[in-house]
Amino acid sequence: MATAAVEEQELDPSLPACVNLISAILAMEPSDLVISHARACGGGSITESVQKFIWDHCLSTPDDSFGKRDTRVCKRISYIFPDGCSELQSKQHSRALVFTLQCSLNMLEGDTGCSIWPSSLFLSELILSHPKLFSNKSCFEIGSGVGLVGLCLAHVKASKVILSDGDLSTLANMKFNLELNHLNIETDMPQGSENPIMVKCMHLPWESTSESQLQDIVPDVVLGADVIYDPVCLPHLVRVLAILLNRTKSDSCKPENGDACDESVGRCKVVYNGRADGKSKEAPVAYIAYVIRNIETFDYFLSLAKQANLDIMDLSDSLKPLNLLRYMQSYNQTHVKLLSITCSNRVMGA
Ligand SMILES: C[S@@+](CC[C@H](N)C(=O)[O-])C[C@H]1O[C@@H](n2cnc3c(N)ncnc32)[C@H](O)[C@@H]1O
Repeated sequence: MATAAVEEQELDPSLPACVNLISAILAMEPSDLVISHARACGGGSITESVQKFIWDHCLSTPDDSFGKRDTRVCKRISYIFPDGCSELQSKQHSRALVFTLQCSLNMLEGDTGCSIWPSSLFLSELILSHPKLFSNKSCFEIGSGVGLVGLCLAHVKASKVILSDGDLSTLANMKFNLELNHLNIETDMPQGSENPIMVKCMHLPWESTSESQLQDIVPDVVLGADVIYDPVCLPHLVRVLAILLNRTKSDSCKPENGDACDESVGRCKVVYNGRADGKSKEAPVAYIAYVIRNIETFDYFLSLAKQANLDIMDLSDSLKPLNLLRYMQSYNQTHVKLLSITCSNRVMGA
């Protein structure tokens, strides 16, 4: 006599193990790691209901942005918030904020800018975990790659988001990703625009960047993820950081909203307190996330920064992000370090 198959119960997609499994598949985590999530979902084995769950939630999607485009793939990065962080979560989903990013399967494509590197995962977690550091701030990123950090900055409502990269194909891919995630790209950023999410993409090779090119950029926060790796580029990178963190007369001497020009010392004296607009403005700070691959290269960066009068602090132990990407076992937050950089000899307003 045939026994009726015991029907397995459908899996609940809001269960943490199921959220992790979907997130790992969408982020294209390595298959062994996806399998371990699938086993966790099925209580130790990949049961029929786990297989059906994967089919229903990940494979039978009508959305054609998920899948291959030549050597490019679209990954979905899901930030899974602990309970109680509701103000940061996406309105459409109860637990996760999801961004779709076109990336290359070739990690060297676009001068390495078409892949997602661990430091930008780290900075994205930092932004989402500490939104007050970035909300209502003018943020400028160097070496932005696929644009993930910019998406998070827009999500926490930075007042301005300027992304930059030295590679033109990376820049094109970054713009594609911003559009894919429904952000408007400004070709030119008019002063006083009412657009709530202003994202600008700039072609900015550090080697040829001039002070005048950056004269209209007055960032509160500069960001960089995984940009300290090529010793040849480092002097140029440090020069760009110094320009952004230290306003001098040649950068911008347009007295505006209380900013004043001090001709006697040949510097633009930026009056940070008592601005005409009534807002106080703090000195700009850079947050640079990095993975040390070669200690000599990193030490070289530190020595160049010192010569340029940049003050560096290691924030790795004091400013930690929440772990919002737990399912992504190919990424280890503790492998990424965080520096803050400020300019020591900036001329502050009286
Ligand atoms: C390792 S990738 C990091 C990309 C992204 N920030 C991330 O962490 O996923 C380095 C990025 O810096 C950019 N880059 C490298 N050298 C550069 C240079 N000399 N000028 C401007 N950008 C540069 C690359 O195009 C690339 O996007």
